[in-house]
Amino acid sequence: MTQARRRILVTSALPYANGPLHLGHMLEQVQTDIWVRFQRSRGHECYYVCADDAHGTAIMLTAERLGITPEEQIDRIRVEHAKDSADFAISFDNFHSTHSEETRRWSEVIYERLKANEHIAARDITQAYDPEKGLFLADRFIKGTCPNCKTPDQYGDNCEACGATYSPAELIDAVSALSGAKPVERESRHLFFRLPLFADMLREWIDSGSLQGPVANKLREWTDSELQEWDISRDAPYFGFEIPGEPDKYFYVWLDAPVGYMGSFEDFCSRSGVNFDDFWQIGQDTELYHFIGKDIINFHGLFWPAILHSAGLRTPTGVFVHGFLTVNGTKMSKSRGTFVNARHYLEHLDPEYLRYYFAAKLGAGVDDIDLNLEDFVQRVNSDVVGKVVNIASRCSGFLRKGFDNRTSATVSEPALYERFVVTSDDIAKAYEGREFSRAVRLIMELADLANQYIDEHKPWQLVKDPEQSQQVQDVCSTGINCFRMLMIYLQPILPSMAERAAVYLNSTLTWEELPRQLLNHNLAKFKPLMQRVDPKAVKAMIESNQVAEKTTAIDPPAGKAAKTGKSSEAASISIDDFQKVDLRVARIDAAAAVEGADKLLALQLDLGDLGKRQVFSGIKSAYDPESLVGRLTVVVANLAPRKMRFGVSEGMVLAAGEGDTDIFLLSPDSGAQPGMRVT
Ligand code: MSP
Ligand code: ZN
Repeated sequence: MTQARRRILVTSALPYANGPLHLGHMLEQVQTDIWVRFQRSRGHECYYVCADDAHGTAIMLTAERLGITPEEQIDRIRVEHAKDSADFAISFDNFHSTHSEETRRWSEVIYERLKANEHIAARDITQAYDPEKGLFLADRFIKGTCPNCKTPDQYGDNCEACGATYSPAELIDAVSALSGAKPVERESRHLFFRLPLFADMLREWIDSGSLQGPVANKLREWTDSELQEWDISRDAPYFGFEIPGEPDKYFYVWLDAPVGYMGSFEDFCSRSGVNFDDFWQIGQDTELYHFIGKDIINFHGLFWPAILHSAGLRTPTGVFVHGFLTVNGTKMSKSRGTFVNARHYLEHLDPEYLRYYFAAKLGAGVDDIDLNLEDFVQRVNSDVVGKVVNIASRCSGFLRKGFDNRTSATVSEPALYERFVVTSDDIAKAYEGREFSRAVRLIMELADLANQYIDEHKPWQLVKDPEQSQQVQDVCSTGINCFRMLMIYLQPILPSMAERAAVYLNSTLTWEELPRQLLNHNLAKFKPLMQRVDPKAVKAMIESNQVAEKTTAIDPPAGKAAKTGKSSEAASISIDDFQKVDLRVARIDAAAAVEGADKLLALQLDLGDLGKRQVFSGIKSAYDPESLVGRLTVVVANLAPRKMRFGVSEGMVLAAGEGDTDIFLLSPDSGAQPGMRVT
């Protein structure tokens, strides 16, 4: 509070306008929003802008599939995204789109400056081209047979079955995933940002910026090894901004995406009168922070600061990186129902439950954050409802009944009060450093103290004795004052509950007014501040998300047909055909990742009488190897051994699901023994 008034601009990464927001996006926005609300509650000038990231091939293709224009597609999604964020109480000052005049103009201005500085190079490159679609094909739009293990239907530049990596040109019988046409090689002129010239500038920025240790290390690793020139152009047809002076060439989506931060802020400035230049020109006394996920560090920690520097604009004060959200310990998965869209969550549960839970788990690091649904119910109910709301609901009744909702003239427990006030610095430090879990812990410790105080003084007993009436009012008034301070501390996390509390307390809740006590003060009528989380609502949410899966053998991993939902029923076979397949129960004795193979685990299986086997299985994306050790599963025991790059695979384990995180190993009921036949 003694600090000078800071001027801060904050952003969350711009979600792609290609699909709905999910809880991973909400983790980021909630983290950012808590920090922003904290800064504002401390009296700082803090703006928070975001936008949809509207450009690129994927959005163009989605629109085409839906039979609408890309503009229609991005307008639709923008409305949905804005509503989802608003319903999670994300306090954007502006939610714009990168497909905007502001972003276009700044992209052009920046590009012209880069060019004038000779930081743009042009040269011809050869790429795969779909002659039918008339499109250059990124790796992920090419598929064919693996040159190594001959598994068909592999995408891009690595094989899901054997883990081999290759160039898409090496794929056997490569076809365009968009049209099925055979790609041809075609040359075209591309523009490159000359990133290697910025190695020293970046090193300096990395050391001066407020970056997390592991992020700075990662960035230094990149700047110390060979930086590559960055291809910033794409050929028509492309949904984006045309590059000035380069007909039929467009800015690559990642060139104009961060410029969207500027575009959104400029749009906000034009309406609010805030001075744009104060936050983007060099040498201003303002701060700029980007909150992002760990998958986009290179864009924000290399390209973006280098481009800003070349364009003569300020670089970010800090880039704050968070980890990824997992649900119940694994990547969000459609078939487990744990791939939860923001809207689905809102249909079943109060957004502030999740804001609280995220806060309770978020530190300043880049570790992944797990939403464990049982823990979620338990944590919110025991902390927010059981501790915080409980204080107010215990005290409010006595004050209403005996004292016309009026608090005492003095506080009865100065030491307790003092303890609440002095903790404020620690709590503020925790918020400032994005150690929200620490802030929550400190706040809950105070809530515990307040509850203990009430427990010790037992107003429900005092009230039986008319002589003790003043005592009742004093104890409950102290409780209510403690509750008020807790709500000031929790307001960045629980803004809606804080609003309801402010109405009840008949008082504003600002950090500045923390030491002020509500003495001789009229309270409003008490209304419930937050309901308990109903576990049934959580269950309903998961069930409503769950999509049914067919059983498929996934070694080699589920074909792409399954992924595109096109898995069809196989032709019928005779019982004799079926009996050719020797299915056995196997116990997994050991499981380990395979170096050089993204998707594979090496499983050591015990097949009882049939002995021990090694099987490579494409289930790594769904299982932590350790979690598999000791469990039983079902294996095709008489599959011809397959030689792979890493060794011989002697069988195939069976699992259901689409692949990726949607993989479910089959297991027999307990009692089955390794080696038993499965018929
Ligand atoms: N459009 C780019 C960002 C451009 S910023 C100039 C993008 N979009 S995204 O929709 O894929 O992701 C938006 C943000 O959400 C990113 O910071 C990303 O890391 C974050 N998350 C996406 N999935 C996530 C989880 N499962 N968990 C946590 N954050 C996640 O990248
Ligand atoms: Zn292969």
